[in-house]
Amino acid sequence: MPDRYAVIGHPIAHSKSPRIHALFAAQTGQDMRYEALLAPLDGFVATVHEFIAAGGRGANVTVPFKEEAFRLATRLSERARAAGAVNTLTFAGTEILGDNTDGAGLVRDLKRNLGVGIAGKRVLLLGAGGAARGVVMPLLAEQPGQLVIANRTVGKALALASTFPTCTGCGLDELDSRVFDLVINATSAGLTGGVPPRLTFTFAPDAFVYDMVYGRETDFLRQALAAGAVVADGLGMLVEQAAEAFLVWRGVLPETAPVLTELRAA
Ligand code: ATR
Repeated sequence: MPDRYAVIGHPIAHSKSPRIHALFAAQTGQDMRYEALLAPLDGFVATVHEFIAAGGRGANVTVPFKEEAFRLATRLSERARAAGAVNTLTFAGTEILGDNTDGAGLVRDLKRNLGVGIAGKRVLLLGAGGAARGVVMPLLAEQPGQLVIANRTVGKALALASTFPTCTGCGLDELDSRVFDLVINATSAGLTGGVPPRLTFTFAPDAFVYDMVYGRETDFLRQALAAGAVVADGLGMLVEQAAEAFLVWRGVLPETAPVLTELRAA
C-alpha cells in the first residue's frame, strides 16, 4: 500500500497539488498517493480525523482551513507559529504536527527560480491577512534592508508589523514618496476581482513585482508592467511550498523546475 497524503480545502476541485505531488513522487521514486479532499465548511476537523483513521500520513491544508489547522495541531513549527496558520500537517501516532511552508516557498521561488535577491532590498508587502502573515518571518530571515507592510485597513498592518521586531506597518495611502526594489502583493484583490491597490509608490530601477495569485494576469500585475517593473505570478510559490511540504514528509527535496515547466505548459 502506498503512503497516503491529501490536500484538504473548500473548494478543492481546482487544486493543482495532486498533480504536483504525483510528479514529485515519480521523480524521487517515493511510493505514495496524494488526493484532493473536499471538507464541508463546518467539517474540517472531522475530515482530518477520518483521513488519519484511513491511514493518512500527512495533509496539505488550503483555503479556508489554515487557521483551523493551526488550532488542531498538537505541535507547531516556529514558522507555523509565526504565521498563525498551518498548510502542512504530519500525522505521527497521536501527534498532529503543524508546519507552514508558504513563506519558504515564496523565498525559494524569488531566489532560485526568478533570481531575485532579498538581502539588503527595500521590500514592500501589500496586505495583512493570512497570506501576508505567512511570509513575514521567512522574508525577514533573508535580511532585507527594510520590510514595510502596507494594508488598506491600516490597523491590521500596524498589528502585524508589531509582532516582528524589524518591520514597519502603514496604510496603502502612506506610500506616496517611498521607493521599493521588491513589491509583493499578498492581498486577495486579484482573487476576488476587487480593485487592486493603486501603485502610488516609486519603483527603483530594476524593481521586481510579485503577485501571489497565479493562473491569471491580475490588474495589479498589469499596472506594474505598465510602470516598467519586471513581474511574476505565484505559480512558482505554489510549486515551491509543495516541494517544501514533500521534504517535511519524505525527507527529500524534489526538483521543481520540470514541474513548473509542465504546469506552465498546461
Ligand atoms: P488571505 O488569507 O488571502 O490573506 P484575508 O485574510 O481575508 O485573506 O486578507 C485579505 C487581504 O487582502 C487583506 O489584507 C485585505 O485588506 P483589509 O485588511 O483592508 O481587508 C486585502 N484586500 C482585499 N481586497 C483588497 C483590495 N481591493 N484592495 C486592497 N486590499 C485588499
